[in-house]
Amino acid sequence: MSVSPTPAARPRILSGIQPTSDTIHLGNYLGAVRQWAALQDEFEPFFFIANMHAITVEHDPKALRERSLRSVAQLLAAGVDPEKSAIFMQSHLPEHAQLAWVLQCLTGFGEARRMTQFKDKSAKLGEGNVGVGLFTYPMLMAADILLYRPAYVPVGEDQRQHLELTRDLAQRFNHRFKKTFRLPEPYIPQATAKIMDLQEPTAKMSKSASSPSGLIDVLDEPRATAKKIMSAVTDSGAEVVFDEEKKPGVSNLLTIYSALSGRSIPELEEQYAGRGYGDFKKDLAEVVVEFVTPFRDRTFALLEDRDHLDQVLARGAEKAGAVARATLRDVYDRVGFVPPVPVAQ
Ligand code: TYM
Repeated sequence: MSVSPTPAARPRILSGIQPTSDTIHLGNYLGAVRQWAALQDEFEPFFFIANMHAITVEHDPKALRERSLRSVAQLLAAGVDPEKSAIFMQSHLPEHAQLAWVLQCLTGFGEARRMTQFKDKSAKLGEGNVGVGLFTYPMLMAADILLYRPAYVPVGEDQRQHLELTRDLAQRFNHRFKKTFRLPEPYIPQATAKIMDLQEPTAKMSKSASSPSGLIDVLDEPRATAKKIMSAVTDSGAEVVFDEEKKPGVSNLLTIYSALSGRSIPELEEQYAGRGYGDFKKDLAEVVVEFVTPFRDRTFALLEDRDHLDQVLARGAEKAGAVARATLRDVYDRVGFVPPVPVAQ
């Protein structure tokens, strides 16, 4: 007989999402947020809105504030439960920036330069047009993670390199000073690790996609979403078969269908054998609409009660703050910072 573990015995998980859009997209949901909700009982969960990462590119302050709260509402709508999970805002806990500084001092310049995200964005915008924050982004992310000493970090495939750097920095710190950090493992379920763009199925679905029609924004009008599925790129064949190399478009649609319906890919292949893409897309559009409609309704209802969202964040920051402060105290001690003492009376 299995006995459910006591809360203290549960391994910790931690993850974050940037509030850089009015709505999460289906890649964020299937690759990350849905996992977060599913893992809450088995693990001790910490989830946060990475609003400090969101200012590494040019942004509008009003939109950032609104999107940060929308992100909280969407986590709740996805089933992340504030009774089980600490849900907090990165900027509410100064320890993230404080640990990031220490980690920046341990990171090699060349090591930071090799990070794909920095390379891609600086190549796109020109090195003169990107801030140093984009360069030190991965060290802030490492701080986000290491502060909580989690066992696992549930993310999509695109975050793997950042996790590798996080592990390297943890190991370096432990080796140079004293064992302080746990080496976190990525938690990346293969099936939904990389949801692809509907128009360009060899590229990941991303908010910076070249065309909005390739992106399923979860809070969009359900009818617009159904249309995007109907016009998704497939191939010149007619068989609904999973083959990522030869049929990336159909394979991505099968992945989405299977993830949202809970039915296996072979089962779906069998159901659509000999029926062509039209029927398949029509049914998938329905499955997606059935998911997004209540998700939107829940999110918009949650956004009506800002006080509730503020309270969720206040409780989250309290829970997370206790852990973050304890870790930072250890770190400051181990690097040799003199502790502050109160003024003598
Ligand atoms: P962000 O905001 O870009 O994405 C949030 C989560 O969604 C996943 N994801 C995807 N998964 C599958 N298919 C896709 N097409 C897809 N697109 C996005 C991402 O992998 C991510 O898990 N740097 C992070 C935020 C962050 C963070 C952290 C995460 C900051 N600090 C500490 C974990 C731990 C980011 O920009 O995620």
